[in-house]
Amino acid sequence: MYGKEIKKVLISKEDIAKRVAEIGELISKEYEGERITLVCTLRGACVFFADLMRAIKGDVEIDFIAASSYGSGMSTSGEVKLVKDLSEPIKGKNIIVVEDIIDTGVTLSYLKRLLLTREPKSLKICSLLDKPSRRKVEFKGDYIGFEIENEFVVGYGLDFDQKLRHYPDVCVLAPEMYAE
Ligand code: IMP
Ligand code: MG
Repeated sequence: MYGKEIKKVLISKEDIAKRVAEIGELISKEYEGERITLVCTLRGACVFFADLMRAIKGDVEIDFIAASSYGSGMSTSGEVKLVKDLSEPIKGKNIIVVEDIIDTGVTLSYLKRLLLTREPKSLKICSLLDKPSRRKVEFKGDYIGFEIENEFVVGYGLDFDQKLRHYPDVCVLAPEMYAE
């Protein structure tokens, strides 16, 4: 179904849907009777976010934030800047930050530190994917969809140079795409 840019489908949209339903149920149970604000980290988490919020029962609000680690293509420079802030204050709220992937851990440790200074009632991290072998800083997510090997993935929101986000499955990018 995909072209030469894709080496293989790593996680099918059906398997993603099953896991999203499980995480949604878990979050619904853990926060029963509480209001949650789901924070989408733009842009990579947008597809996961849209599915996850509909898998959660209860009192849910949403907001958006964007951070960029300077650098394009496939590498992080290690320096993070806030590109778009939340629209609402989060003091006293239950926050779940929804991310596409935890790679080096640099982006989320920055975001977590920033958001904690605003004194939320609670703050958890939910990431569709986790590549623990790539960490530069220690970081652990609270809800993880899938742990993956050190391969560059695209689709279901994840990009290669802003492209391929719209592919419905999580796919491994063909190495020819980034070979120099
Ligand atoms: P960090 O290295 O944990 O700070 O992750 C920063 C960002 O790098 C993630 O939010 C993704 O947007 C991007 N990223 C890391 N690994 C991949 C990948 O395999 N495919 C696409 N984007 C990735
Ligand atoms: Mg990205």
